[in-house]
Amino acid sequence: MFNPQKLKKDFPILSRKINGHPLIYLDNAATTQKPKTVIDAFKNYYENSAANVHRGIHTLSEESSEQYENARKKVAKFLNAKSPNEIIFTRNTTESINLVAYSWGETNIGKNDEIITSILEHHSNFIPWQQLCNKKNTKLKIIPLKKTTAPLSLDISALEKLITKKTHLIAITGMSNVTGEKPDLKKIVKLAHQNNTLVLIDAAQLAAHEQIDVQKLDADFIAFSAHKMLGPTGLGVLYAKEKLLQAMPPFLLGGGMIKEVTKTRTIFADIPQKFEAGTPNIAAAISFTKALDYLEKMDLNNIQKHTENLSRLLITRLKKYPQISLQTAENSNGIVSFTLKNIHPHDISEIFNKHGIAIRAGHHCCHPLMQDLKLAATARISFYLYNTEDDIEAVCKALNKVIEIFN
Ligand code: ALA
Repeated sequence: MFNPQKLKKDFPILSRKINGHPLIYLDNAATTQKPKTVIDAFKNYYENSAANVHRGIHTLSEESSEQYENARKKVAKFLNAKSPNEIIFTRNTTESINLVAYSWGETNIGKNDEIITSILEHHSNFIPWQQLCNKKNTKLKIIPLKKTTAPLSLDISALEKLITKKTHLIAITGMSNVTGEKPDLKKIVKLAHQNNTLVLIDAAQLAAHEQIDVQKLDADFIAFSAHKMLGPTGLGVLYAKEKLLQAMPPFLLGGGMIKEVTKTRTIFADIPQKFEAGTPNIAAAISFTKALDYLEKMDLNNIQKHTENLSRLLITRLKKYPQISLQTAENSNGIVSFTLKNIHPHDISEIFNKHGIAIRAGHHCCHPLMQDLKLAATARISFYLYNTEDDIEAVCKALNKVIEIFN
């Protein structure tokens, strides 16, 4: 069933040419491509059952409400959540994390408390905590990198020293979008819970590469985006334990999240509606179910083995270039960052693009990490299920070209 070469045909965009070359798409950490089933479901909603949810007493509205709530059930089942009430649809990972920072954070974080995050974080799991801590006069502690230069790795042993009775939350990535590192989440959750500390996981990258079982993992909040796992843009997920959601005040206020409103007060709806003010991205939620079907059919364990293997092969090839420094973790499963001596990553990306190869070059929304690495940017290759060893050959050929042009 899982054959990367064959499944390419399920993704219409992969037959495109870029600058006269067949597209080699290696920017999957930014967003993945979509199989035809997802695109068709999106189109089908607008062609056949477009209507708002939870509002109209007519066939179309009932149909779209049912499909939208089925999407919530599907996500809950995919994550092995106890109930669909634990699934909140947002716009993206960023909004999911902001929801927690504003709703839970504003209510539960005080002057003498502490939050721990890590130096690996994407801005979306860093700035909300930094700003909350600045506002509340709270300490933000940051798990640093190990002092060794390569391979890059978080110094998780520092967490044992950083965590105190005042620590209310550990907000940490499940998989770095720069180094590909996957911190030992089970260990972190165990340590946190022994200390009565909650854990939020930014699973924007992890969810696409590993089957998350929320009950086994036992984290309190998990945020991710549909578009990084074959789904449409504009849809994020926040998983949170039901009792936490019940106790949290709403994040956004407006239509669809109330039981009753008078001139002077409002009674809010129960979860999950309490956190979904305004018309949601109905088409995205419905078509995301097709992405999850596809991932289930291919099996995330197969995808994980495949992207791990490609990462290892690429790292071995890159290590042969004396001009290359790797900014990649030992256990990277799909993300490989590197720099080439005296050549800006933007130039690498531009020359790759001339050969039809899409990669990302930049700071990857990780300024604090880049500052510690003393780098302005890296070039980043990120794999997904439709990439093959041929793509690595193409990368090496393009790299040789880059070196030839700049030397
Ligand atoms: N967070 C996405 C990335 O790392 C956009 O590219």
